[in-house]
Amino acid sequence: MIIEPRTRGFICLTSHPKGCEQNVKNQIEYVKTKGEISGPKKVLIIGASTGFGLASRITSAFGSKAATVGVFFDKPGTKGRPGSPGWYNSAAFEKFAHEEDIYAKSINGDAFSNEIKEKTIALIKEDLGQVDLVVYSLASPVRTHPDTGERFKSVLKPIGGSFKNKTVDFHTGVVSDIEIQPGDDKDIENTVAVMGGDDWELWIDAMKKAEVLAPNATTIAYSYIGPELTEPVYRKGTIGKAKDHLEATAFTISDKLKDIGGKAYVSVNKALVTQASSAIPVIPLYISLLYKVMKEEGIHEGCIEQMYRLFNERLYTGDIALDEKGRIRVDDWEMRPDVQEKIAALWKEATTETLQDIGDLKGYETDFFNLFGFKVDGVDYDQDVNEVVEISGIV
Ligand code: NAI
Ligand code: NA
Repeated sequence: MIIEPRTRGFICLTSHPKGCEQNVKNQIEYVKTKGEISGPKKVLIIGASTGFGLASRITSAFGSKAATVGVFFDKPGTKGRPGSPGWYNSAAFEKFAHEEDIYAKSINGDAFSNEIKEKTIALIKEDLGQVDLVVYSLASPVRTHPDTGERFKSVLKPIGGSFKNKTVDFHTGVVSDIEIQPGDDKDIENTVAVMGGDDWELWIDAMKKAEVLAPNATTIAYSYIGPELTEPVYRKGTIGKAKDHLEATAFTISDKLKDIGGKAYVSVNKALVTQASSAIPVIPLYISLLYKVMKEEGIHEGCIEQMYRLFNERLYTGDIALDEKGRIRVDDWEMRPDVQEKIAALWKEATTETLQDIGDLKGYETDFFNLFGFKVDGVDYDQDVNEVVEISGIV
């Protein structure tokens, strides 16, 4: 079929297999051009199909020839109905990995469930024995607790009072004022249950018990801080409470892994366009200014640049350079004082009229469509493509 983008609000309902494949190919090429990393050898990636998880998987496989098991929750394409981008990304990743005889298998299902944990552990036992790295990169709006069956919904709200600021609709370029009502204790509890560290800890507990963690194994999860501008809706909002919990969980897990010499880390990553971040008010305006400034400074990065740098210059160098709270920082360039000062000044000037010039709305929009395999250079969108694509190593 011919597949075109169909957007509704901040989501795109369709995705393009060839565009997704090209995105994956570009990321692989990037890693190969940058060169080998003396990195991990056997890796489990939870949340492996898009964003930072996919980039971690590509960096592992093509940076240090690691065998990878990827867990994700995606929709395969069916006749006349395109699947989700993560499905097509994973199909492309496995195809390219298998072409180079790099082990890659995938499990599609709810990572929050006991069933998927058991299935993943069984696969590791059978095929790899143990893994030396576990990447935890889930981003989800909901979680069903595996034991109680309780369903939690995460929300993006300020805490303690409403938050007024401006935002942009990147489809139209219209800058407008918004006011977000605060969340209550229930909202905080829900968001922490979904995006905090509880499930990460359950994964590591189960893996340790099953003895599928290698001696000195590392596990890593991803966090975000961001500037004062977005604090009320991000770091000091409901999602920030979940990130506080995730970061605290790293210490809990490290304690539990002491006897096998293992360690848990959180890496604070840069703000990037993803399905999740497009839905957070205020963030798209911030990102469009951030992209503009970082591109001008020649320090802009996407997911793959971030993950390559994380592996090559932090995790596997011996100089992990933790901050005062024990976190790895690859948001260091985003948070540079000169970058943030420029953004703060531009923020005051940002209107529908000025943003076309002072912000990188085009870059935002391109990145957004790229997530779904659209507007990717080198892809012929007039060509018929097969929307039904198999993932060769799906278990
Ligand atoms: P993403 O939406 O691109 O990736 C999420 C992954 O989780 C996908 O592979 C998806 O299939 C999988 N997933 C979601 N629910 C699942 C479930 N129930 N079972 C199995 N798999 C499931 O997200 P992104 O942006 O890569 O985020 C990953 C982490 O990085 C998150 O913790 C996020 O907060 C963090 N982060 C994101 C930043 C951003 O600007 N996007 C910045 C810094 C950190
Ligand atoms: Na991810």
